[in-house]
Amino acid sequence: MKQSPDNRPHFNAAAETWDANPRRVNLARQVAQSMKKQLPFQTDWNALEIGCGTGLLTCPVSSMIASLTALDTSEKMIDELNKKICKQRTSNIQPVVSDIFSFPHIPEQTKKYHLIFSSMTFHHIENVDGALQKLFSLLLPGGYLAIADLDEEDGYFHNDSNEKVHHGFRRNLFQKQLLQQGFTDISFSTAAKLTKTNRANIEKTYTVFLATARKSTEQ
Ligand SMILES: C[S@@+](CC[C@H](N)C(=O)[O-])C[C@H]1O[C@@H](n2cnc3c(N)ncnc32)[C@H](O)[C@@H]1O
Repeated sequence: MKQSPDNRPHFNAAAETWDANPRRVNLARQVAQSMKKQLPFQTDWNALEIGCGTGLLTCPVSSMIASLTALDTSEKMIDELNKKICKQRTSNIQPVVSDIFSFPHIPEQTKKYHLIFSSMTFHHIENVDGALQKLFSLLLPGGYLAIADLDEEDGYFHNDSNEKVHHGFRRNLFQKQLLQQGFTDISFSTAAKLTKTNRANIEKTYTVFLATARKSTEQ
């Protein structure tokens, strides 16, 4: 089954100049701060990130934990992350070109994680329920999920009208989807507000939520 629209060409083309947009850099910084506030980070945690892009959120989160596997479907985004890793002397980040649905490529290598997180990626994933189910299966009992994404938007956030995306999410509906997959301790906060000139050429402020949840210790 095809789980996601093929957005690889779009993100491959955007990768090299991704970090040149201060709005993205700022957003990742604010999401990292919100995660730090909401989650009890431990230095022995192993984490998985879905849709890491160039690593704007990957790098600050990796400094708080033991290891981080960073997935992205775009090989050019992963190239950019690898360039950053090469500049550091050591790194606990393992970048992987992969869709969440086909990870890990060798099922026998399935690991479970203390934390799974993602920022601005879920609106690009067509089958949200399927993705949440997959993430639940990859979490350790007692593990944490953190998803940052757009609150429901006007449909003009993305510049390309052909991009197949969810127009953000309603928090109460997203909460129901999390509950359906078995997540507990669900809470929402506003991680960031970002102002941009949208596709209708109107300057608008969009909000980004951070949803945190847990897999019960009894799973
Ligand atoms: C809007 S970008 C956000 C990147 C990064 N999280 C940031 O905040 O800068 C979304 C990223 O998710 C990746 N992506 C989209 N669908 C994906 C999927 N099904 N599995 C893994 N990565 C995906 C894209 O290639 C892209 O790099």
